[in-house]
Amino acid sequence: MASPTETQNPSLPLQDRVAIVTGASRGIGRAIALHLASLGARLVINYSSNSAQADLVVAEINAASSSGSTTSPRAVAVRADVSDPDQVKSLFDSAEQFFSAQPHILVNSAGVLDPKYPSIFNTSIEDFDRTFSVNARGAFLCLKEGANRLKRGGGGRIILLSTSQVAALKPGFGAYTASKAAVETMIKIVAKELKGTGITANCVAPGPIATEMFFSGKSEEQVKKAVEECPLGRLGEVQDVAPVVGFLATDASEWVNGQVIRANGGYV
Ligand SMILES: NC(=O)c1ccc[n+]([C@@H]2O[C@H](COP(=O)([O-])OP(=O)(O)OC[C@H]3O[C@@H](n4cnc5c(N)ncnc54)[C@H](OP(=O)(O)O)[C@@H]3O)[C@@H](O)[C@H]2O)c1
Repeated sequence: MASPTETQNPSLPLQDRVAIVTGASRGIGRAIALHLASLGARLVINYSSNSAQADLVVAEINAASSSGSTTSPRAVAVRADVSDPDQVKSLFDSAEQFFSAQPHILVNSAGVLDPKYPSIFNTSIEDFDRTFSVNARGAFLCLKEGANRLKRGGGGRIILLSTSQVAALKPGFGAYTASKAAVETMIKIVAKELKGTGITANCVAPGPIATEMFFSGKSEEQVKKAVEECPLGRLGEVQDVAPVVGFLATDASEWVNGQVIRANGGYV
């Protein structure tokens, strides 16, 4: 049997680089993981509770690669709550151990949104804390671990998911938007702090994307409004975001550093 380090197709831009994608069991994270795999990366599929869906993503990546020149596993599922420092550490440990390699790429797509869409003055303290715990603290912990443990000297990439709500500032998204504003601030600073490492750090900030998170708690009217607000007259799809992250993950993006890329069809 081929070893997990065996090369698959040397012409691929992320050939054999190890990428950790948090929140990859569903939605945008899943699409990002599949796209990075198609660019040649080996994938750690992180999730918090949905092991069955994470296993399906792993199976899809491994099935696609086993039809090629190697039968070595290209993906593994690892459970970790991004808001827990020990679990984030062991996520990176698992990546290093499984692939016997230092990861090049971290994509943090794990996130939560309060489906009650409360005004700030109606947001419970528990909901505020949960939002910040996963979205801001989780991004901080992943960023911290990634900045210390990703490959240095070229090709190191940190990509955090934010949201176009940080620019749109819509009512009903107060805690969520504030938690992502923290993420955008951290990415701009850490990009400078990583001077000399060759690691770049950027955010991708989608507009409305058709996932469970987007539809949760929304009426048909609210969905229709999101479509009407977009110049392209449709909701975003996960496939609209994955290639943007894919570009940022490759060497071709090196000159893009410390930026927030809003991928939203012109929504804001
Ligand atoms: N959809 C949109 O309209 C939209 C727009 C802008 C930005 N975003 C951002 O894009 C990212 C992905 O959103 P999505 O729409 O794909 O969401 P989603 O469909 O709800 O998927 C959320 C993912 O995050 C994981 N997750 C949740 N809490 C976690 C935790 N504590 N630790 C580790 N993983 C956790 C979930 O794992 P389980 O499956 O195990 O629960 C799942 O894989 C989020 O950061 C979101 O804020 C989304």
